[in-house]
Amino acid sequence: MENASRDEPAALELKGVDVAYHGDIRILRGLSLQARRGLITGVIGPNGAGKSTALRALYGLLKPVAGDVLVDGRRVTGMPPWKFIEHGIALVPQHRSLFNELSVEDNLRLACWSFRGDRARVGEALERAYAQFPMLRERRRDMAGAMSGGQQRFLELGRALALRPRVLLLDEPTAMIAPRISADIYAFIRGLPAQGITVLLVDQNVRQCVQVCDHLYVLELGQNKVDGSARAFREDAGLRELIAEWVDYRIDT
Ligand SMILES: Nc1ncnc2c1ncn2[C@@H]1O[C@H](COP(=O)(O)OP(=O)(O)OP(=O)(O)O)[C@@H](O)[C@H]1O
Ligand SMILES: [Mg+2]
Repeated sequence: MENASRDEPAALELKGVDVAYHGDIRILRGLSLQARRGLITGVIGPNGAGKSTALRALYGLLKPVAGDVLVDGRRVTGMPPWKFIEHGIALVPQHRSLFNELSVEDNLRLACWSFRGDRARVGEALERAYAQFPMLRERRRDMAGAMSGGQQRFLELGRALALRPRVLLLDEPTAMIAPRISADIYAFIRGLPAQGITVLLVDQNVRQCVQVCDHLYVLELGQNKVDGSARAFREDAGLRELIAEWVDYRIDT
């Protein structure tokens, strides 16, 4: 296992975090994880392990009842989501988050709401999304809901990238997506660090996640079970065994 105590602070971090949804039912219990700068960090674990909850806490959508959230090593616990956006953190949530009745371009424009008066900046943001995914430019006047599942996923990714994030949080980006399109999405994710983007990837496709990530956390019942370099997960017999059950049951879903 790698030692977490390295010099540079993580781009984004949970430190001993507890999150409770109702009263005192703790969903996350003492969870710690780091998205290190310039890397792709994976988070895997069974259904209900708290993966999405961890991402919500890392984006200010849920406030920890214990522990801290850190951005570049600075404590920001309790900061609202819009401030996370200002810190260059973007989230693509697990469940569809588009406005189906709006055009592709209007969906992108809505992401620019906080600077809607600045036409040049909005134009740049749209260009950034279209440059990443030229298909979106071709379909910019089409209703988002009229596109295929894969195209909608690319719109969600483009919308997140339009804001030029430093850290991208991805929650099961290939769930319910055809394998051929999933391969494109993984190729795209793999290219993000070269654009200076740190990635935290929650994935149910364990085999793909191990391939694409640099470092991997395994969660169980809202707690850290184990973490290590993805290489260790590929090569260490004990770790392979640990996740073999999920790989068998959950591959390419
Ligand atoms: N809004 C909510 N209110 C109450 N409990 C919730 C809420 N959202 C999630 N939970 C519970 O919190 C636990 C963790 O859920 P979470 O969605 O974070 O898991 P997950 O690891 O993302 O699972 P999946 O693989 O199914 O996406 C589950 O037991 C779930 O039932
Ligand atoms: Mg989830």
